[in-house]
Parts: sequence; C-alpha cells; structure tokens
Amino acid sequence: ASPPPRLPLLVLVAAPRGFCAGVDRAIRIVELAIEQYGAPVYVRHEIVHNAHVVATLRDKGAVFVETLDHVPDGVPVVFSAHGVPKAVPHKAAQRGLHFVDATCPLVSKVHRQAERHAAADRHIIFVGHRGHPEVIGTLGQVAEGSMTLVETLDDVAALEIEDPDNLAFLTQTTLSVSDTAAIVAALRARFPAIVGPRGEDICYATSNRQEATLAIASQCDAVIVIGAPNSSNSLRLVEVAERDGVPARLVEGPHGVDFDWLEGVATLGITAGASAPEILVRGVIDRLATRYDITEQTVETARENMVFKLPKELQQTADDKS
Ligand code: F3S
Repeated sequence: ASPPPRLPLLVLVAAPRGFCAGVDRAIRIVELAIEQYGAPVYVRHEIVHNAHVVATLRDKGAVFVETLDHVPDGVPVVFSAHGVPKAVPHKAAQRGLHFVDATCPLVSKVHRQAERHAAADRHIIFVGHRGHPEVIGTLGQVAEGSMTLVETLDDVAALEIEDPDNLAFLTQTTLSVSDTAAIVAALRARFPAIVGPRGEDICYATSNRQEATLAIASQCDAVIVIGAPNSSNSLRLVEVAERDGVPARLVEGPHGVDFDWLEGVATLGITAGASAPEILVRGVIDRLATRYDITEQTVETARENMVFKLPKELQQTADDKS
C-alpha cells in the first residue's frame, strides 16, 4: 500500500526565541573555564535550565552539583546564570575555592538594587516564584527578614507591613509581563509610597520572547514552546499562548513532539525559551517534516543585539580563540 498523503503544515517560527545574552555568556564562561583551567570544572546548579546544554558541557568536562559541599577542594567552580545567595561566594572564599560567577548581569543588577534598598532600611517586596534558584539567590542578597516574597495578587492583599513609608519592590527577571504588571499595580495601590523600578525587573529577553509568542499565537492553531520544565521563562511562553486561547505545549526537544496532539493543526507556532539552543528548534522542525510538508516562516517582532562582557579572568582565553 502507498503511504498516506503528507499533510501541509505552515510553521510560524517566533523571533526572537531561544538563547539570550545571559545564557550565551554563562555557557561561554563554563567552556572558557574548562579551556583555561582544564577539566573538571564544577558548576553549582544547572548552568542554565536545559538538559541538552548541560549534557553538552558535561561531555566537555563540566561536573554539575547542587551545593558547594559537593565541590572538592582545589577545583574551580562556576555559579549558574540564575545567581546565588551571598552565602555561597562567602563560603567558597572561606574554603579557598576559585569561583567564577556566571550570574546574568541583569540578575546581578536586581541584587545590587536589593542591597541599596536594604542599606536605606527599606523592607523589600520581591515578586517571584517560590523555590526558583533566581528567587533563592535574590532573597539571599539581604539579611533574613528584610525581603518578603509575593507570587500572586492574593499575596499582595494579605501583606502586613509595619512601615509602609519605607517600602521597595523588586521582581524576578523571567516573569509574565502581564501578571507582573497587575501585581505591581496592586502594590502601588496598596502602598503609594513604595519605591521600585519604573516598570519591573523583567529582562529584555523575557519580554521580547513573550511578545513574539503572542504575535504568532493569534495566527496559529497550536503552539510548541521548546524549553525545560524547570525553565521559568519557557513556562511563561506556554501561558502567553494559552491565555490567547491557543493550545500550547512545552517540549524538551524533537522527541517531545506528539503527533496525536497535532491532529487537525494546519498552522503551528514554534518558539523557544531563553535557555533552549537553536539545535532543538531545528530538531523539532525536522521531526515534524517526517510527517508533514512544511512551509516555514519567521515572524519577527524585535531584533536583539545584546552582548554581555565576560569576566575579566576569562577574557584573554576568549580573545585567543577568536
Ligand atoms: Fe539574563 Fe534574562 Fe537571559 S535575566 S539570563 S537575559 S532570560
């Protein structure tokens, strides 16, 4: 019997998608550290939340651990892009460990703001997702008790603040733009004297990817977001599409494609979270092409040209390579 006819599928690929400048820098830091100091180089936590990236770096000589206790003496250790509580570099220094900080500069910026508010004796309301490493890192920039985490509007309504005239807020960098706007508005309404960033601290990459996803979602029957289940900004992309009324799924790579789920879909949107490499996007489209006749179009809503400086100690090795 002849094979069933291949159905046409229009694939709208969002741009920008995938790697942001902070992820790019963090991965380069691990690669350059291995080159400069030799393997193994330890990395505290997944350098970025992506299994493919982690496996590739592991092959090159990186060893991933969750705490400093698992880093042996005498080997370099890299801190992940999400940032770490102050206690971590402190402890590393006490042990005489050589550490390289791959915290995204946009996360570090929030850390510095937290320090400034704490120095001015302001209590800080932090908008973020409990348990995410970036949130743990930012909470750990100031003394215990000087920051309160809120996740929802209900949390804002339930806040009990002793001195509302001495209050500041900060946010996680990878939140939903629309949810955060509502939470910040509620904070400002309840505490008119609260100080904070003009909008929030959501990074350019997160907001650009949400905007691009929204732009394709309205034209699609379904959206695939490539990213890891522990990637905050990828999960937000799924929400953005779903809230626009479009079924959306997070897939980790080509094998996550569920052809049954795609039944009846004529136009499919594809995007990728900030920690998902382009190779996974290509892999997903190649897998789709085994069943469909694909027409691929890019829908671009912004151009990004952000590049973050490497730590000084690795710059020479980077220059030698280029
Ligand atoms: Fe940094 Fe935003 Fe990427 S905070 S790591 S630029 S997602």
